[in-house]
Amino acid sequence: MNTFPKDFIWGSATAAAQIEGAAHEGGKEDSIWDAYARLPQAVAGGDSPERGVDHYHRMPEDVALMKRLGLDSYRFSTSWARVVPGGRSVNQEGLDFYSRLVDELLGAGVLPWLTLYHWDLPQALQERGGWTNRDTAYRFADYAEAVYGALGDRVSHWTTFNEPLCSSLIGYVGGEHAPGLTDPAAGLAAVHHQHLAHGLAVQRLRGLADAAGRDIQAGITLNLTNAVPNDPTDPVDLEAARRIDALWNRMFLEPMLLGAYPADLLEDVRDYGLAARIQDGDLEVIAQPIDFLGVNHYHDDNVSGHPLPADAVPGLRPTPKPGRSPFPGSEFVTMPTRGLPRTAMDWEVHPQGLHTLLVRLGAEYPNLPPLYVTENGAAYDGDVVTAEGAVHDPERTAYILAHIEAVGRAIEDGADVRGYFVWSLLDNFEWAWGYEKRFGIVHVDYDTMVRTPKDSALAFAKHIEDTKLAA
Ligand code: NOJ
Repeated sequence: MNTFPKDFIWGSATAAAQIEGAAHEGGKEDSIWDAYARLPQAVAGGDSPERGVDHYHRMPEDVALMKRLGLDSYRFSTSWARVVPGGRSVNQEGLDFYSRLVDELLGAGVLPWLTLYHWDLPQALQERGGWTNRDTAYRFADYAEAVYGALGDRVSHWTTFNEPLCSSLIGYVGGEHAPGLTDPAAGLAAVHHQHLAHGLAVQRLRGLADAAGRDIQAGITLNLTNAVPNDPTDPVDLEAARRIDALWNRMFLEPMLLGAYPADLLEDVRDYGLAARIQDGDLEVIAQPIDFLGVNHYHDDNVSGHPLPADAVPGLRPTPKPGRSPFPGSEFVTMPTRGLPRTAMDWEVHPQGLHTLLVRLGAEYPNLPPLYVTENGAAYDGDVVTAEGAVHDPERTAYILAHIEAVGRAIEDGADVRGYFVWSLLDNFEWAWGYEKRFGIVHVDYDTMVRTPKDSALAFAKHIEDTKLAA
């Protein structure tokens, strides 16, 4: 067993739109995901976030579960559409819900780790252009201030965005997430405005915390990947991997850490107007120092510039739906299989990739802040509650433990990783896949909403306990 630092944070994560439900209660109005889910064929099975897994009404029970599992921290998101439903006026009832959640967590000895944007923009702001409108970035800073005003006396860990790649490129270019657009120029505008929103919010939060004499930890969570050339000796595959690395990793990391977009990226996407979106001073705002970088990682991306053979297994994400435009710069990219085992998402299982990523980040960015693995986990089919009230999920259990082992080795090899959060605490609304892709370490019966810890939850709890004893 690896030795983890004594104060290493073990946690689990969720997001508001995936678990809360109560989509139109307590003053909440539509987020873009409520609206998007109403479009025909947008979400598998016609599912929607409307009911979630009823966390809004079962929050104390869910926090009790966290305590029972021995979690140090719970990573959750606040819903902008609950806090500022119409995009301008604050809904006190929405803030009160999160205030109760924070009190419940602190009472259970669980550190609240808050994310301000996990993809659920108020629909009212979408109607004003959403993230293509620069004004949305300023509205975001105001929303951050409202949440800080209600919770800043008790919450120390603040994440601005979760996986901005998904809420910009997949939502505005891939068409597979809300708002469901397929417009590369809109996608890149969304990227830049989310970056700006991140910087403005960090500035705003720090200003408020300083004025109140409080210390905060402010950062962002990115989904980062290893873009692995399928054939490392083939220049076509190497070029495809470079383009994917620029578009999926470096377009997010470098403005924040280095204060500049990568030159090769700007050249790759020159036809889509990104450069014209950047105003004087933006990059200084975006490159605000951050206290941590959250890393979400599930799988590598094995990249080829050659067309897939006709009988190939469908590629990993992003898989543009027929007739929808692909990501700019990735038109020719394919994702061949490497013959590794796969999860129910068709994602490769390759724990070594997490080790590689964590070590590589430190080597590539000397000013890298401390890292937290803010998401890692797996969906598998076939979770069944037995007559004894157990859920045997050996594949998920093995996935989680193998990735934790990879994190431990990364630390031994010099990566500054301070925590690990399993995705997800509960089975939930897996976006365009609906409810049937189950990532939870706790099973949810979607008819009764009964929660049952799976074997993976028990194994994770035991791991946490053993690690603490060993430290
Ligand atoms: C990334 C996202 O942050 C989360 O919302 C999603 O459910 C998981 N990955 C699994 O796809």
